[in-house]
Amino acid sequence: MNAEKKKKILVVNGPNLNLLGLREPGIYGSATLDEGMKALEARFPQAEFTFFQSNIEGELVDVIQQYGFTADGIVLNAGAYTHTSVAIHDAIKAVRTPVVEVHLSNIYQRELFRHTSLITSACVGIIGGFGMDSYRLAVEYLINR
Ligand code: DQA
Repeated sequence: MNAEKKKKILVVNGPNLNLLGLREPGIYGSATLDEGMKALEARFPQAEFTFFQSNIEGELVDVIQQYGFTADGIVLNAGAYTHTSVAIHDAIKAVRTPVVEVHLSNIYQRELFRHTSLITSACVGIIGGFGMDSYRLAVEYLINR
């Protein structure tokens, strides 16, 4: 039996990601958020996951603060707040837990306003363009670091 303690991973999804499956499936795929998160959990039995989704910026700040000193890693898809939120940038800087920025789509292939991320500089890294695999790659990094 593996005596190692399970890594605690928080996965945070921001605005409109609750509509995955319905929302622009040509860009974001046909899987629902629930399906994507369940697949992640099944793939990494060695991790203990907490999943959180909100459309409200302050709630994303709150959950980063809440888990940011106890979790082993945070996977963050901040959705559109990626491009606007100084508050989320500051929350990531304020905590000790490493945060990986993820995106389903390749934001650099899309509209110019998506080419700026206010959170990348606060994160350990950024993974995007691989659909739900972006989350898997982020978790792989966080549990192996
Ligand atoms: C997104 C990209 C953002 O630009 C967009 O606002 C989203 C989703 C992605 O996962 O590709 O809501 O973060």
